[in-house]
Amino acid sequence: MTASAGGALPDARDIAIGPLDLAARVDEALAVQAAAFGLSAEEVGVRRHIVLRHLASPGARALGATVGRGRLVGFVYGMPNDRAQWWSTVVEPYLRRTGNDAWLDDSFAITELHVLPEFQHRGIGRRLITTLTDGATEPRSILSAIDTESPARALYHKLGYQDLARRVLFPSAPCPYAVMGAPLPLRR
Ligand SMILES: CC(C)(COP(=O)(O)OP(=O)(O)OC[C@H]1O[C@@H](n2cnc3c(N)ncnc32)[C@H](O)[C@@H]1OP(=O)(O)O)[C@@H](O)C(=O)NCCC(=O)NCCS
Repeated sequence: MTASAGGALPDARDIAIGPLDLAARVDEALAVQAAAFGLSAEEVGVRRHIVLRHLASPGARALGATVGRGRLVGFVYGMPNDRAQWWSTVVEPYLRRTGNDAWLDDSFAITELHVLPEFQHRGIGRRLITTLTDGATEPRSILSAIDTESPARALYHKLGYQDLARRVLFPSAPCPYAVMGAPLPLRR
């Protein structure tokens, strides 16, 4: 452990990245997402069903970042993209308009990536997404992120993700998203 200005935080080398049984630890993962991304209790309940449904998709995989005796401080999950899934049906017309809809095929989709605020900007998000996509057999990866110049978008750009469509509106989401795609393996 290394002391930091804000108190004792584990050294980056003491943060383990490894397979996560997301179905068993969905409540911990959603607590991480709620702290990182901001989710109401009602949204957590909705996400819980969605995550468990996603995990039934063929090839769905999750990784966790843990400290100490296994406290979860970050997670990522994704799956081979399926045009029939809700996310693809929403983004497809936007991608078709920009001539990028072929990205929906042979892509590994990143569904969620979150790191607790006090553990951010220490390389955990980068380790999670690169390790997950390194295990993909697809030649490329696709995801959506809120369409603003956020830390998430900065990370994705550094890893080689490019904008495939902007101002994408998901029903019930309060702000527009960007759809981004990158060749695999991700740029280091
Ligand atoms: C996006 C997120 C997962 C990144 O995780 P992280 O562990 O902080 O990321 P890393 O430390 O690996 O950072 C990698 C790059 O991201 C960018 N980044 C991370 N934090 C940043 C910050 N506070 N400000 C600006 N850029 C930042 C930088 O480009 C950084 O590269 P650098 O280390 O060369 O400067 C994390 O910020 C997070 O959980 N955010 C809230 C939830 C969210 O937006 N999730 C994504 C949904 S699409």
